[in-house]
Amino acid sequence: MRVTICIGSACHLKGSRDVISKMQEMVAQNGLIDKVDLNGAFCSGNCVKEGVCVTVDGELFSVKPEDTENFFHKEILGRL
Ligand code: FES
Repeated sequence: MRVTICIGSACHLKGSRDVISKMQEMVAQNGLIDKVDLNGAFCSGNCVKEGVCVTVDGELFSVKPEDTENFFHKEILGRL
């Protein structure tokens, strides 16, 4: 599964660094390092959304740092 997190300036201000570090933690905790490929991506033109722009296998989501855990459970663990 390929997950990309936008590190463009708008998403950076909305906390992309926190989203990335939480995701890395959760991937490691769940033993998914070889299943979930986390990547940074540059601005994809979706800065208008409320949260940080994250894609999961090409599907676009908007994730706030405080929602990262829920997002991970639902969209990442829920799809494996
Ligand atoms: S900065 Fe993230 S979508 Fe533009």
